[in-house]
Amino acid sequence: MVTRAIVRPPGLNFTDALTTVKLGAPNYARALEQHAAYCEALEHCGLTLTCLEADERYPDSTFVEDTAVLTKQGAMLTRPGAASRIGEVENIAEVLSKFYMELSSIHEPGTLDGGDVCEAEIEGRNHFFIGISKRTNEDGAGRLSEWLASSGCTATVVDIRGINNILHLKSGLACLGDNRLAVIVALADRNEFRGYELVRVAAQEEYVANCVRVNDHVLVASGHPQFEATLRKLGYKTMALEMSEFQKMDGGLSCLSLRF
Ligand code: GLY
Repeated sequence: MVTRAIVRPPGLNFTDALTTVKLGAPNYARALEQHAAYCEALEHCGLTLTCLEADERYPDSTFVEDTAVLTKQGAMLTRPGAASRIGEVENIAEVLSKFYMELSSIHEPGTLDGGDVCEAEIEGRNHFFIGISKRTNEDGAGRLSEWLASSGCTATVVDIRGINNILHLKSGLACLGDNRLAVIVALADRNEFRGYELVRVAAQEEYVANCVRVNDHVLVASGHPQFEATLRKLGYKTMALEMSEFQKMDGGLSCLSLRF
């Protein structure tokens, strides 16, 4: 159960954010509308929001999830793997210090993006998957694993560098609860996920793998009917949200909030 989320709307220079996809420039007004609908959905799921001001020093700063890893045991500030994003962490540290007595950190040469960290409780045990990606390196993953172990959590590293079409681990993996993971085809046969029931995302719906279980609901990007129908059949209450403008900048539903 989560009760809070931190969010930040995109700034006017959101078009300058990093992206690897070729879907065109985001429409700013539409991005703000989509962000507002996302915030409403989180509130509908029972969360109290801390809504930060847009920060135009950092065009990617709406993707707050990359700046920290929040667990039931504590908070770890990350060190984002893209140089243009490292400065985002300072302000998030100030915000998180209102909620956590102590903040741990990833230090150089470690890099870690929160989008590479997937909490996936299994049979009541706190477990995390940590992606090694273009953004998260072995040092960062190692430091996070040690920190998690110190509070009784286990972690498995998943190397995704060979998978071209995902930026972060959570671009292709989500924990649905109930020992279930949503996975893209390229991750579905990996040994790391043995022991979980896998809900496979069809190749043409890959973007929807970045869905988010928030208490009794699963937020999904709209326009992916096959996956949504599968979730409904499994008994989940889904909420579909338009994400087109964030998708253009390599962002997904999970990236837009820090939930705790
Ligand atoms: N645009 C999201 C990221 O590259 O981190």
